Order: sequence, then structure tokens, then C-alpha cells
Amino acid sequence: MKNTISYNNTNHLLSIDQFDRDSVEKLFRIADMMKPITTRQKICRVLEGAVLGNLFFEASTRTRVSFGAAFCRLGGSVCDTTGFTFSSMAKGESISDTSKVISGYVDIMVIRHPEIGSVAQFANATNIPVVNGGDGPGEHPSQALLDLYTILTEFDKLNKTIDGSHIAIVGDLKYGRTVHSLIKLLSLYKGLKISLISPNILKMPKYLIDQASTKGNVIEEKNSITSGLENVDVIYATRLQKERFTSEIDIDSESSFQINLAKLNLYCKKDTIVMHPLPRDSRPGSYDLSTDLDKDPRLAIFRQADNGINIRMAIFSSLLEVDDLIERSMKDAKWKSPKILRPI
Ligand code: NCD
Repeated sequence: MKNTISYNNTNHLLSIDQFDRDSVEKLFRIADMMKPITTRQKICRVLEGAVLGNLFFEASTRTRVSFGAAFCRLGGSVCDTTGFTFSSMAKGESISDTSKVISGYVDIMVIRHPEIGSVAQFANATNIPVVNGGDGPGEHPSQALLDLYTILTEFDKLNKTIDGSHIAIVGDLKYGRTVHSLIKLLSLYKGLKISLISPNILKMPKYLIDQASTKGNVIEEKNSITSGLENVDVIYATRLQKERFTSEIDIDSESSFQINLAKLNLYCKKDTIVMHPLPRDSRPGSYDLSTDLDKDPRLAIFRQADNGINIRMAIFSSLLEVDDLIERSMKDAKWKSPKILRPI
């Protein structure tokens, strides 16, 4: 299949801007093909011999591990770096030098870095594919792709369609890179109502709202949950990105933006799904997505995180052009694994 991600003669995944609805859906069909592998029924070695450089200069658990696991499940191997302090950037090495050096060692790179635009700089200094695993408060395209894939999968079970649906995005919309990519992706669909609910000081950047509004979807901004959650099909909650706040921000009542069971029951429908890119901040005094929803089937966060593997396998197989080989290279998995992966 023609590589669905390559854009302007480059073979990187840097931004949602490089997709249209057709290329997104092609990528999702590749992700669907991965299900026998992610459910541990089958194995596949199409990337045998290939090496991924997984370079994370910022905190990460699921993005780094799931990109690594996705590459391994296609038969490749992974070389990792974690943190800024333990990399040569702490000795003053430039992005360009790091990228040129790593290009000699690996076949594809996934980069997370604290500065906006930094991953594009990595891409400019290499001819191997580069995937944006989060560039500061910029974008996080693979997360938005797995988020949309989750919405479509959950809607499928509920006999709903994305066109015409109502999606609420709640929390830190200023610094949250996942929602910057997500609003771009949602704007490829039709007749959506998108409610952006945040404290006034953490509103979605205007250029993103302008870009998303051009496609005829209704985008409304709200500064309170009470008026924004009625009749929503999806709540996408986010964590306050306190590590990016430039000064002490006094958010009057963080708790009023918390999504919990009482608010879900009060304002939402019986089939509203609740998503979050994770991690959620579970420390005392934080008002991130509440754990009192953990046994509620509307909470889709772990199904959402699981979908990250299918999507990241699809991204690798598309960028490295092995997607046509996947189905016929599958073999039975031989080890024993539990039918249900985690307690409910
Ligand atoms: C997000 C990120 O790093 O942007 N996490 C993730 O990759 N799933 C969200 C966050 O850190 O709040």
C-alpha cells in the first residue's frame, strides 16, 4: 500500500497537518490488521533486523514503552535513551548533531523533547523517518491518532457515528499537546460539536480554534463544566501540565474541572465515554480524572492506552513500508497469556 503518512516528499510523522480523512482511515485499517498480534494470538517478524531509536528527553511511560513494544511486536529491536540529564544534550550537543549521529545507528527514530518544533529539527537533519512523540506544548500526533481510533471503536460498539457527535475536551487546553493534535484531527470530520472547557487562563490557542473552525464544525469555549457537558458523547479529560507553567498559576478551583462519577451521572448520558491520554495525577490535592470512575464501563482510558500499540504498529509499518506483508507473515503465538489482561 502507498505509505499513508509521507508528506511533501518527506517520510516523517511530525504533525496531524499532514493527514486528510482518507489517509487517517487507511492508517486505521492497518491498525485493525494488528489485532491478532496485540491480542497475543499471532506473532509477526516483518521488522526483523530493523532498529528503533527511542529518544525521550522528557518524562514518559506509556508513549516510550508502547512505541518500543510496537516495534518489538513487529520483530524489530529498540535502543532507548531516557531523560535530558543522561544524554549528550546536557553537554551542549545540538539537535542536529544528535540526529545525524543517531541516523547512523538506527532505522527510524521516535523523539520526545521539551521544545516546540524540536522534533521537526531532528527530522531536518536526517534521511531516516522521525516520529514526533511530543514536542513540548506543540503536538503529539500518535496520541491523537490513537484517541480518534478509540472514539471510532467505542462508537462502533454503541452504534454511533463520529460525524455529528458532540465531544467535550476538558482541562489544560493551553499546554496540553495531545488536545492540540486532537482538535486538528477531529476537524477532518463533519457536523461535530466540540466543547472546549477550561479555566480562562488555560484556553486552547486561538490559531488552533480558527484552523479547526474552517471545516464547518461548531466549536464552543466554556469556562465551567456545568454548562459544557450536557449531551456529550465523549469527555476527553486532561492533566494540568504544571511542568510547563511559566509562573505560579492560581487556578481558583481546580476541583471544579475534575471529572468524577457524580458529575458524569448528573450531566451526561448513560453512554458517554470518558477518555484521558494519561498519566492522571493521583496525588493528594490533585483534581485530575477521579478514580471513582474506575469500575464504570464508560471509562475507556485503559482500552484507549491499549489502542496505542495497534496505532504505533501501523505507524511503523507504514513509514517503513511493510504493511503489505503483515497479514501473510503472521504465525501462531506459542506462549500462554491471560484472556483478560488486568482486573476490572
Ligand atoms: C501526555 C503527554 O505526554 O503529552 N501523555 C501521553 O503521552 N500519553 C499527556 C500528559 O502528560 O498529560
